[in-house]
Amino acid sequence: MIEGPRLNRAARDPAAPLKGAHVVVGVTGGIAAYKAAELVRLLDKAGAHVDVAMTGRAQKFIGAMTFQALTRRPVFTNLFDLTEEATIGHIQVADRADLVIIAPATANSIARMAAGQADDPVSAIVLATRAPVLLAPSMNVNMWSHPITEANILRLIDVAGYHVVGPGDGFLACRWTGPGRLAEPADIVEAAAHVLSNQDLAGVRMVVTAGPTYEAIDPVRFVGNRSSGKMGVAIASAAQRRGARVTLVLGPSALPPPVGVTTMSVENATQLQWALGDAVKDADVVVMTAAVADFRPAKEAKQKLKRGEIGPTASIALVQNPDLLAELGKARGSRRTPLLVGFAAETDDVIGNAEKKLVTKKCDLVVANDVSEPGSGFAVDTNRVTLVDTSGAIEVPAGTKYEVAHRILDHVVAMRAAAAAPPAKAPREPKPKAKSKKR
Ligand code: CTP
Repeated sequence: MIEGPRLNRAARDPAAPLKGAHVVVGVTGGIAAYKAAELVRLLDKAGAHVDVAMTGRAQKFIGAMTFQALTRRPVFTNLFDLTEEATIGHIQVADRADLVIIAPATANSIARMAAGQADDPVSAIVLATRAPVLLAPSMNVNMWSHPITEANILRLIDVAGYHVVGPGDGFLACRWTGPGRLAEPADIVEAAAHVLSNQDLAGVRMVVTAGPTYEAIDPVRFVGNRSSGKMGVAIASAAQRRGARVTLVLGPSALPPPVGVTTMSVENATQLQWALGDAVKDADVVVMTAAVADFRPAKEAKQKLKRGEIGPTASIALVQNPDLLAELGKARGSRRTPLLVGFAAETDDVIGNAEKKLVTKKCDLVVANDVSEPGSGFAVDTNRVTLVDTSGAIEVPAGTKYEVAHRILDHVVAMRAAAAAPPAKAPREPKPKAKSKKR
């Protein structure tokens, strides 16, 4: 039997998949290199066998001795050092790795990896390994948002299937504030555990809609709702982490689109409908998290309406937007693909309303939440949902939207597996007992 971290799926400890795993931490030359020591300590504590490789520049920020002490193993600092290579070469380390983490991944190291260079121990291991690679970028905010860095990251994700954690938003060593800060070591460990255990959506084409829609009254005003897009973005990013190829159709939202996810930005329900039409063509799963405005103004004024023109009391004529989920359910007919997941934002009779939506919108699963409950629903970082399908209702424990996203995806994976399974054979009728012949 094959023993290994990837089989350890049922474990409750989130770091459990790391136990016994061979993890290479590649440290490249940025100020956040010192945080790699804490990362290595946490990985070691989680039971991983950690090998550290460093670029020459990384060694200017932190000494190899620190990592050697933490891992009790030699550290790879020089690709061309015969003594280092004689004990165990970088190719062997790359071969036996279950996971390679690059932390920090600087703009320069990302560019070099995207170009397939391999002239230092870190890039050589990255190129030689067949294990998943997790990048934890850290750099100046302008470097991070530079189109070249963005293109390099996308290339590593799209072409090589690398995973990315962070960067976080915060005060950077260069005194700028914004995205660029190395993800917290504990978050990198969590992401590493996910990469090792959770590739159950590998190759699945998933479309996720998120955020509100804004239906313009005039160039300044709109009819909309309180959705922030957080739940949908969390689903898109969790699915991407689990190997899905995700297209996110995102309504007006302050959130940055998740790295590695193809994002289409839309403003209103009509645009969302167009974007969906294209995106769902070859989708395996569609998750409609978007809070689509049910109505739009019958007429959009091209110029800003003046207060005087509107008068002391105003009424705006509204027309109904199409129910996009119901349209998808109808178009699908008797085919069961794509698997359709809807949301139900409710303030009363949450389960009853969700059950109705399951039927009227002809979808496979409705994620119901009580948006009036504190810590649940719009704009907050946590959620409490109930999963409603034809077999009943399952309450998901309250958690961060990212945690809840994973629980929803667990259910999607289970539903896909059940749909793919051959129909259970009807139990065989017991054979009539043969009459015993008398001799
Ligand atoms: N939805 C949709 N198109 C609409 C309205 C809703 O596709 N015009 C989708 C949402 O993305 C969600 C589900 O339908 O997945 C339920 O949305 P919700 O706002 O809870 O319900 P409504 O259908 O708008 O019904 P009601 O407002 O009466 O509860």
